[in-house]
Amino acid sequence: MRSSIPAGLSHKEAELYSRLDPARFPQHIAIIMDGNGRWAKRRHLPRIAGHRSGVFAVRNTVQCASRIGLPALTLYAFSVENWLRRPKTETSFLMGLLRRYLKIEMPAFQEHNVRVQFIGRWRELPAEVQERMDWAIAETASNTGLILTFAINYGGRSEIVDAVNSILAQSRRNGNHAEIDEEAIEQHLYTSHLPELDLLVRTSGEMRLSNFLLWQAAYSEIFVTDALWPDFNGVKLLEAIAEFQTRERRFGGIHAIHPPSVQPA
Ligand code: FPP
Repeated sequence: MRSSIPAGLSHKEAELYSRLDPARFPQHIAIIMDGNGRWAKRRHLPRIAGHRSGVFAVRNTVQCASRIGLPALTLYAFSVENWLRRPKTETSFLMGLLRRYLKIEMPAFQEHNVRVQFIGRWRELPAEVQERMDWAIAETASNTGLILTFAINYGGRSEIVDAVNSILAQSRRNGNHAEIDEEAIEQHLYTSHLPELDLLVRTSGEMRLSNFLLWQAAYSEIFVTDALWPDFNGVKLLEAIAEFQTRERRFGGIHAIHPPSVQPA
């Protein structure tokens, strides 16, 4: 059992936290935030109402992750396919929502020492969105707590393609023709600076990776909840961590392996 409960947790969060094993705390959790549309439909609301409510779930989850000392949280906010296959009105709404979210949330990022980053082909987004993203990165660059990464205009396959092209460009610059191995690809992934992905959470019950962190998920545990994203929160995050701690991780071997965990502050 943990010796002290972090400040600011709700009663239920604190209760769940107190049951966690400090020796098996994940270092990196990623979430496929799905089900905003269905959440809205059940309430006879337009899809964008689901996205708007999804922001509250992001806020609550990030706050809890940061309070419990999770080192890295990666959220799948917008895929390459979302960009191509959704009505323009919805994608424009999501871009506006992201801009507003980053601005409104900045005081909380600073208060909780959260460092904001983005992965994906987000340099293809409209200039005003990129400007806000650059601003959020710069404003939080010296924060040392939770690394909060939003995957935006992200695709797992395009990430691997980008990594390979980056290796080829580097070897052309250096005039060498080294063979590409796993280590080289890992070093050129968008996530090269993040801890190994321990736990991948998906909301709304779908059993798919949806092109998210394909390389990184090779040995991560997967937790699927029926909760729709707007109903997700810190309590559900802690429930996912509790379930993660019951899993026996073997990384392809026959014995359970517990990678060293970072002790939350
Ligand atoms: C999937 O639900 C969700 C998205 C495509 C967008 C994720 C956006 C948010 C969580 C809103 C706020 C986030 C930020 C960072 C501002 P869906 O629309 O595919 O739901 P459905 O499968 O039920 O239709």
